[in-house]
Amino acid sequence: MAPSNSVKDLVPLMGSDAKIPRIGYGVYRSNDCKAAVLAALSTGYRHIDTAQFYKNEADVGEAIKSSGIPRKELYIVTKIQQPVENSVERTLESIRESVQRIDSGEGDRKGYVDLFLVHTPASGREGREILWRALELLKKEGGTIDIGVSNYGTEHLFQMETYASITPVCNQIEVHPFCQQKEVISLCKSKGMVITAYAPIVRNRRSDDPVLITIGHNHGRHPTQVMIKWSLQKGYLPLPKSDNPERMKANMDMEGWELSEEDMTKIEQLDEGQDGAICPYPLNCP
Ligand SMILES: NC(=O)c1ccc[n+]([C@@H]2O[C@H](COP(=O)([O-])OP(=O)(O)OC[C@H]3O[C@@H](n4cnc5c(N)ncnc54)[C@H](OP(=O)(O)O)[C@@H]3O)[C@@H](O)[C@H]2O)c1
Repeated sequence: MAPSNSVKDLVPLMGSDAKIPRIGYGVYRSNDCKAAVLAALSTGYRHIDTAQFYKNEADVGEAIKSSGIPRKELYIVTKIQQPVENSVERTLESIRESVQRIDSGEGDRKGYVDLFLVHTPASGREGREILWRALELLKKEGGTIDIGVSNYGTEHLFQMETYASITPVCNQIEVHPFCQQKEVISLCKSKGMVITAYAPIVRNRRSDDPVLITIGHNHGRHPTQVMIKWSLQKGYLPLPKSDNPERMKANMDMEGWELSEEDMTKIEQLDEGQDGAICPYPLNCP
């Protein structure tokens, strides 16, 4: 059966009681992040993806607080890029600060995020281990429900087996029809990890593709919607970003239509491998 396609669908995470909403809302380069998150929440998104690097964790925090939506109905993800002073303790302090910026708690309730990710493998073998140890400690003390990775290639995932006590619940990577990441996705699936798909609409740079235009035309949809639908039907969790409320709505308007097997096969053929990627993150870095 094809996966469901609504922002309301919740996907179970391996080894966790938590479930993650299938469509997320990304805030990288958000113009007015607080306003954008409030608009996204009122459109229906419940899964928000931020990062220390985006410098808008506090805006996300303000938006979720002023939205009035109960914290447990929201799913908030953030990320750390590099260890601090090569120290697990200093890194832990940095990620605790992220949690405080996003959710400082309320009354007896301690603040938390739902998922904290290592943003990139670029800090090397030692750096990755420090980051992971700090995230494991944050999880143990309740600052995050789950932990995961981003931009990890197969070698990084194999290497984690030598130092990780907890298996990551997800790998957040660039995935779209032009960069389908088959090898790493197959490994993640075998480990029970979910794939959150960033840049799922290629920042609107490939919406002039004739195959996507034709498929979109047949369904009365824009090529960006076809890309999001493809991601969902592949079983991924796409994270489209838009500052524009009409586009926010279009990007989650996924119910009541399906891509056919023939459409999926045609899109499969658009894969350009790493040449189709638009982000410079190093899935193959040492
Ligand atoms: N882990 C990582 O290393 C990493 C890297 C990159 C991104 N991410 C995450 O993934 C999220 C999404 O990725 P992204 O922002 O790079 O790219 P994206 O979601 O593929 O594309 C966003 C761009 O597309 C435009 N857009 C959105 N909806 C549209 C529509 N329906 N029609 C036409 N244009 C549309 C947006 O402009 P408007 O805002 O003007 O609508 C924006 O310029 C990020 O916000 C971030 O949370 C993670």
